[in-house]
Amino acid sequence: MLNRVLDYARAHRDEYLKDLLEYLAIPSVSAQPDHARDVKMAALWLSEHLRDAGLRAEVMATAGHPVVYAEWSGHDHHRPTVLIYGHYDVQPAEPFELWHSEPFRPVVRDGYIYARGADDNKGQHLAHVKAVVSYLRAEGTLPVNVKFLIEGEEEIGSPNLSAFIAAHRELLACDCVMISDGALFSPTQPVLTYGLRGLAGFEVQVHCLDRDVHSGHYGGNVQNPAFALAQVLSSLKDAQGRVTVPGFYDDVRVLSAEERAVLARVPYGEADVMRETGASQAFGEPEFTVNERKGARPTLEVNGMWSGYTGPGSKTIIPATAHAKITCRLVPNQDAEKVINLVQDAMRAAAPAGAEVTFSDARGTPASLVSLDAPEIQAAARAAAATYGNPPFYELEGGSIPVVHDFQTLLGKPIALLGFGLPDDNIHSPNERFAVACYEKGIEASIRFMAEL
Ligand code: BES
Ligand code: MN
Repeated sequence: MLNRVLDYARAHRDEYLKDLLEYLAIPSVSAQPDHARDVKMAALWLSEHLRDAGLRAEVMATAGHPVVYAEWSGHDHHRPTVLIYGHYDVQPAEPFELWHSEPFRPVVRDGYIYARGADDNKGQHLAHVKAVVSYLRAEGTLPVNVKFLIEGEEEIGSPNLSAFIAAHRELLACDCVMISDGALFSPTQPVLTYGLRGLAGFEVQVHCLDRDVHSGHYGGNVQNPAFALAQVLSSLKDAQGRVTVPGFYDDVRVLSAEERAVLARVPYGEADVMRETGASQAFGEPEFTVNERKGARPTLEVNGMWSGYTGPGSKTIIPATAHAKITCRLVPNQDAEKVINLVQDAMRAAAPAGAEVTFSDARGTPASLVSLDAPEIQAAARAAAATYGNPPFYELEGGSIPVVHDFQTLLGKPIALLGFGLPDDNIHSPNERFAVACYEKGIEASIRFMAEL
């Protein structure tokens, strides 16, 4: 049966690719209100697609963008049920001018599909859908029961998903969860992720004047909010990248020697970071390795800052206000609210006289660690080994998938985190892409996972 299904998938690769390109053409940017209709369109496209494949599928309302839910269950209730999670929303595509082809006109170039959302995450969850399609069309049945939960707000922090899961625990009941929303180490080296960082964020406003004023007439006599913001921000980190906020590292999990040894087996270091990002040197806490900094250490970053005049030419003013968007990546045991309070207290304390500092938009999602010994996770490891030719590495991921924590607390089942993308797919960047070969291998890995399960 397995070989017939794999053959069916190979024979239908062109059709499967065409469907992904159609899905990617829908600009489902969850962060931008102008795209609300497109987000809904993507949900409808996916639910119709799942229905055509023979699943019971529906678009279910939340307080924000809707969730697509679908299921297939045979008559054999002794078989395990896998819940497959993904997200159909995408990051904003800006800055458009840096794309070599339009972000929502998907094209295949040199073996890669270029489009916003190709890797993160439409290509990855559609691979699971196509695995199910291949089974149902080739054999008329699946070896397991399958549920899909594909949400539309992951890229904005999944603000409504925990309420949805809590309200639909029966519907979502399962034996394990499968999430493909990350990357392989290389085309032949899969990774099973055993932890994700969390996120705590807010915006800061520095207010000094009633309005922008002449920088000659008033310069030398009033505080400049852009400078005040710079002073506040630069007080938060030392020259080597350690966060200096009192108490910031208090709850951070200390890595055991064994875990450091496991992480050291992954051949990824400063040279790779430089090559992938264009940074002239790596920068971070000197007493930790790149893999440890990425997965096991919290961060404090500025995601954006603005003040004053930034148009062409010059405008001689002292701006009235300055703003920044701040986020911290969290590691297990850190509490988002506590971290936000510590950082905001430190910022207030560092504000110079004449600068009023206020905060808004605080939000957070905790980090998670998943156990690897469940038989379902071992099934994912065997499927990955058979598909890619090597047993998986075990890694901590620096990014966040908020639902993982909700699944752990509300469903309490093993979660397999097996990414199908590549590290240089440019997720959240211009020219996001997904290799056609990765899509096809993802379909194969999913087919094998269901067989192993
Ligand atoms: N797919 C990413 C998470 C990820 C990034 C996994 C890199 C593996 C490698 C996901 O779509 C994402 O971007 N999550 C956001 C969540 C945030 C908005 C709460 C993130 O990490 O910034
Ligand atoms: Mn993302």
